Amino acid sequence: MRYLITGGAGFIGSNIVDELVRRGQQVAVLDDLSAGKEANLERVRSKITLQVGSITDLAAVEEATRAADYVIHLAARTSVPKSVIDPLETNRVNVDGTLNVLVAARDARVRRVVYAASSSAYGETAVLPKIEAMPAEPISPYGVTKYVGELYAQVFGRVYGLENVSLRYFNVFGPRQDPTSQYSGVLSRFMLALIQGMPLTIYGDGQQSRDFTYVENVVDQTLRACEASGPSGKVFNGGTGARITLNQVVRLLEGIVGKKISVTYEPPRSGDIRDSQADISLAQKVLGYSPRVMFEEGLRRTWEWYKGAYDGKSL
Ligand code: UD1
Repeated sequence: MRYLITGGAGFIGSNIVDELVRRGQQVAVLDDLSAGKEANLERVRSKITLQVGSITDLAAVEEATRAADYVIHLAARTSVPKSVIDPLETNRVNVDGTLNVLVAARDARVRRVVYAASSSAYGETAVLPKIEAMPAEPISPYGVTKYVGELYAQVFGRVYGLENVSLRYFNVFGPRQDPTSQYSGVLSRFMLALIQGMPLTIYGDGQQSRDFTYVENVVDQTLRACEASGPSGKVFNGGTGARITLNQVVRLLEGIVGKKISVTYEPPRSGDIRDSQADISLAQKVLGYSPRVMFEEGLRRTWEWYKGAYDGKSL
């Protein structure tokens, strides 16, 4: 089968590409390298095609999609605070770009589009864990854009018969998550600070919680979403079913690195949700998905990877 991975040079995308190549599938990547890096594809570079281009460019998306059986659509602006600062840019990439991907997939008659949705679509729910049947009430521009992508995917299923599955990823972490921007995922920021011997920064009191999900779990679930029969038009949570506060993460990290860690507390970020935890029973039932790597093991592996990747100057 031929897979197109938008955002395939990024953190989650390149991990999916590796697994597809390992399984002997044909892989094409469309990535504008704004967040992704060619280096993430180093190990498989000779076995895949990489088209450098943006999902905001319909002609580029059409070219990339032409031969695809499956499209895994990950390319996006991924940061909540960045969307608060520049909602137009986040909308342009996440909404307009997703619409381009769906139009191209429809015209190329691909078998299915699997869309990287986000748990941020829920916003603050009164009850945890978050279940797909709960109403979507996003509280950041980012959350709105990710939810709009789901709606578009479902409407393309109804109106044009395009098979689609949306996976609401919870906080994904692991090897290759880029830690170098202030908008990078919190665990990658923590890893970089630890390596540099700097205090960790926590926005708020550290009692906010997340269902941190090791990337290998998300790779497995995403490929199941391509292959499973019957899930078209559905939305699934992609998490582990557990949650942990940032303060608890720091305690665990102290155990892993074997020393006391200092933390600087800063005011909370606007657009942040407080708590997040996935109910994964629907994904278990329909996709046969269960997380393989739980949080502490994932954190250990991630720390080992960052230590190895750091060459003394950069990450
Ligand atoms: C993350 C993802 C988003 C995804 C969503 C799904 C990133 C950048 N964001 O959003 O793409 O759709 O999960 O659940 O990967 N924080 C600190 N210190 C830091 C950085 C962040 O305390 O140095 C805090 C934030 O204020 C927030 C929490 O950590 O309370 C998580 O932040 P972040 O990693 O940016 O993820 P989300 O906003 O949850």
